[in-house]
Amino acid sequence: MPAALRIENLKKSYGAVPVLKGIDLSVEQGDVVAVIGRSGSGKSTMLRCINGLEHFESGSIEVVGHKVSASTAALRALRKEVGMVFQSYNLFPHLNVAENITLAPRVVKNLPRTEMAGLVHDVLSRVGLAEKAGAYPDELSGGQQQRVAIARSLAMKPKVMLFDEVTSALDPELTGEVLKTIAELAKAGMTMVLVTHEMGFARKVANRTVFMNEGRIWEEGPSEELFTNPRTPELRSFVAPNLK
Ligand SMILES: Nc1ncnc2c1ncn2[C@@H]1O[C@H](COP(=O)(O)OP(=O)(O)OP(=O)(O)O)[C@@H](O)[C@H]1O
Ligand SMILES: [Mg+2]
Repeated sequence: MPAALRIENLKKSYGAVPVLKGIDLSVEQGDVVAVIGRSGSGKSTMLRCINGLEHFESGSIEVVGHKVSASTAALRALRKEVGMVFQSYNLFPHLNVAENITLAPRVVKNLPRTEMAGLVHDVLSRVGLAEKAGAYPDELSGGQQQRVAIARSLAMKPKVMLFDEVTSALDPELTGEVLKTIAELAKAGMTMVLVTHEMGFARKVANRTVFMNEGRIWEEGPSEELFTNPRTPELRSFVAPNLK
């Protein structure tokens, strides 16, 4: 079984400014990896590189055995394996939930019409919104829209899911329902890498946590160990306010 994700010596700069300074990370299938760190430490940039959204100067990234490169064919293969959900969910407002969900599978995978309803029901059930297939985005709460965005991503049957602070635009009560959805996906065995500011969630749901600092993986390990026994002063001061 290939690793779900293997990053070796990944380096990326914006102009003259190095942002990722040599990242090494391996994620096995079924791993749930939380990525934490201060603003500007490179968390989003790393996810964007994994998903082929960002050019990088050196190093290599492999997702379930596919090398990430700039070629169109490689990117197309990659997009079938990796799903990504962002802070802003960007559902198409003029399409209902079912249409939002089936758009990519129809275009990219030629999903037959006869299989659409089943797929919609399946992915919406996994995010607890089976009854919302006919709703339009503006008829849903922010938390529900974000769960539809997750369902839309699941519809491509990705082997790895990337989440970038998917709850930071939501009120606390809506945050809870989205985190619960993600926790259920994790329990069902989905491999995921999630950037989050929700330390309690990282600790509870992720089996591994990665602390990024200044463009490097500063510290990583089993979540419980990392949070209870941070080795570096940087991680200690980062998690201190959350350890009550
Ligand atoms: N398109 C861009 N052009 C130039 N610099 C960028 C660009 N995107 C990000 N950066 C810079 O790269 C660094 C890392 O940004 P990144 O968005 O990866 O941080 P982050 O860890 O995700 O932060 P946050 O927690 O605020 O989301 C920052 O210094 C940022 O200013
Ligand atoms: Mg970010």
